Amino acid sequence: MFKNQEITEGIYYVGINDRQKHKFENMIPIPDGVSYNAYLIVDEKTALVDTVEVQFGDVFINKIQSQLGDKTLDYVIINHMEPDHSGSIRLLRQYYPDVIIVGNSKTLSMVEGFYGVTDKTLEIKDAEILSLGIHQLQFYLTPMVHWPETMMTFETTQKILFSGDAFGAFGTLNGNVIDENIDIEPFWDSTALYYSNIVGKYGNPVQKALSKLSVLEIKYIGSTHGPVWKKYITEIIDKYDQYSRYHGEDGVVIVYGSMYGNTELMAEIVAQGLSEAGVQKIIIHNASKSDSTIIIRDIFKYKGLIVGSPTYCNELYPDIDSLLRKIEIRGIKNRVFGSFGSYTWAGVAIKRLTTFVETMKWTSAELNVEEKQGLKKDKYEECLELGHQVAELMKNHVDDLPHCV
Ligand code: FEO
Repeated sequence: MFKNQEITEGIYYVGINDRQKHKFENMIPIPDGVSYNAYLIVDEKTALVDTVEVQFGDVFINKIQSQLGDKTLDYVIINHMEPDHSGSIRLLRQYYPDVIIVGNSKTLSMVEGFYGVTDKTLEIKDAEILSLGIHQLQFYLTPMVHWPETMMTFETTQKILFSGDAFGAFGTLNGNVIDENIDIEPFWDSTALYYSNIVGKYGNPVQKALSKLSVLEIKYIGSTHGPVWKKYITEIIDKYDQYSRYHGEDGVVIVYGSMYGNTELMAEIVAQGLSEAGVQKIIIHNASKSDSTIIIRDIFKYKGLIVGSPTYCNELYPDIDSLLRKIEIRGIKNRVFGSFGSYTWAGVAIKRLTTFVETMKWTSAELNVEEKQGLKKDKYEECLELGHQVAELMKNHVDDLPHCV
């Protein structure tokens, strides 16, 4: 019953749109949903590249059956084992009992671990080729983009790279799946949100993968989430190169926590100082209101970060404390930092923020501004000066880490 979109000769899109989930991985808000992409190659032999979350299994199987008709499914290629892509393996076996599960040694061990499946598997090695007839699949092991078993599959005749999570984006695919046929604009920010929160910790493995793939002439990229890249291949690869080298665009993110508005007021003055010094892109987040995944996205995008926190129970304000931990976990590199805060009877926040920036090995402004109780003239001036200092440091900051490979 389904008329699947043919991406290029003999290769069909059989993925699913998820408009039900509120938060991806129960963490990341996805108001525009997400797609789980899967691709079916029909040749002398047939192969499915990746599956979808099992809750969408009925429609998924229907799409495959609509395309295959009386043909059987010979192979399922598993580029990535996270359950949003491997979740339908057992279901597939119910409909296609002889389908051979193709993956590397780590994949197959996870297929057993997650689903208890050990039979009819094919272990492939790096650079090995599987022939389907006209279509040839070559496998590229790309560990830690996003899990240890991740790999990519390149179809050498149509030159389509099935890239797993790499180059993925949030947002459903509405009516068409290829970038040149859809409004691509919203996908740039959702690519940044996806990269920073999902793949962001693994800058070095991403750089290694990019280097490995650089020998390929790629005409399409079929990621597991978001658009099929065709027109914007150079742009999406450039973005991944920049993100994985922790390159920040010119701009500053100010994040603050505030109970009664004293630290919040300081954030406004620091922003004024940045503007006086010529910074145009200034983003201010209230850590208690903005979702932390959006803040993390912006910290990935821009080279400056200024954090403000009151002292709370002799510690950092909890929402700021939690955000800093998330930044540490992702190992974001090479940012210009500043800090400010307020307290009522004993100031601790600045000490904690100083320890944080030392741990991160970022460049920090000399000046930290900490006010006792309400904001007064001398600290008002210091907030302006903090903005000036961070702006000046950014001008002289070499923010590109060298290519790691
Ligand atoms: Fe979309 Fe790492 O799974």
